[in-house]
Amino acid sequence: MVEGTEGPAPESDRTPHPFEGQLTSARVYDYLLGGKDNRAIDRGMAHQMLSCAPELKTLAWFTRNFLHTAVRKAAEAGIRQFVDIGSGIPNSPNVHEVAREIEPSARVVYVDYDPVVVTHCDALLANSPGVTALLGDVRHPGDILAQLHDRSLIDLDEPVAILLISVLHYVMDDEHPAEITAALRDRLAPGSYLAIAHGSSDSDPEILQVLTGLDDTSAQVAYRSTAQTQTFLDGFELLDPGVVPVQQWLGPDLPETRMVMLGAIGRKP
Ligand SMILES: C[S@@+](CC[C@H](N)C(=O)[O-])C[C@H]1O[C@@H](n2cnc3c(N)ncnc32)[C@H](O)[C@@H]1O
Repeated sequence: MVEGTEGPAPESDRTPHPFEGQLTSARVYDYLLGGKDNRAIDRGMAHQMLSCAPELKTLAWFTRNFLHTAVRKAAEAGIRQFVDIGSGIPNSPNVHEVAREIEPSARVVYVDYDPVVVTHCDALLANSPGVTALLGDVRHPGDILAQLHDRSLIDLDEPVAILLISVLHYVMDDEHPAEITAALRDRLAPGSYLAIAHGSSDSDPEILQVLTGLDDTSAQVAYRSTAQTQTFLDGFELLDPGVVPVQQWLGPDLPETRMVMLGAIGRKP
C-alpha cells in the first residue's frame, strides 16, 4: 500500500452521480479542455481552480498531449490494442484517432466509471468498428479485464497499451493503487505498455489547498510523490525520460507549471 493520504470518503460516496446535479471530474476536465459537455456546478469548480492557478488549462493540454505521445510511442512500437481507463468525455483527437494515424486497424476500448462519459463515447463511436466504450471502475481491474476478454474486445495474449491518464490520483491509498497496476501488469502480454499521468504532491501548496475543496466528492484527489508514482510502474521498464513533469515528454522549452502533472511510460519486458 502506498502511504501518504488519509481519511478517504467511502467508495460509494466517491462514485459519480452525474444525474443528481453533482460535479464530476469528467465534466470539470471537459471545461478545462474547452469542451461544452459540462454544467454550472462543474464550471464553478473549474473557475475556482483557475482563479488560483490559471495555468491549469495549459497543464490540461500538456497532459492531453502526453496521452497522444504515449499512444504514438506504443503504436510505433507495434501495439495494435489500446485500453484508455478513465478516458473522460471525448476530446479530439481521441486515442483511436491518434493510434489509427499509425495503424488504421488499431482497436481501442474506452473505459470510465461515469455513465455520462460512456454515453458520450457511445455517441461518438457509433460508426467506428473496433472502438468500444465500457462502464468500468479502475478500482476493480479484474472486472475490466474480464469484460475485455469475455466480450472479445481485446486479445490479452497480445501486447496492449493501458492508458491511465489523470485517473490514478482519484484512487485513495486504502484503495491500493499499486495493487491495481500490478493486477493489470500480471495479465498483460510481454511487450505491453502502461502510461500514467498523475498529480504530483510536489505541486505548489497553495494550489493543492484549493483542490482539497474537492474532498468528499468523486473528484477527491490523492497527490503523490515521484517515488510513489514510480511504484505504479513496478515490473515495467521505464522509457526515457522516466517519471517527470509531462512537459518534459513534449519538448525542451515548455514552461513549468505550479501544479505538476507527472508522466511516465513503461514497457513490460
Ligand atoms: C481528469 S479526467 C481525465 C480524462 C482523460 N483521461 C484525459 O486525460 O483527458 C478523469 C477521468 O477519470 C474518470 N475516473 C475517475 N475515477 C475513476 C475510476 N475509479 N474508474 C474509472 N474512471 C474513473 C473520471 O470519470 C474522468 O472521466
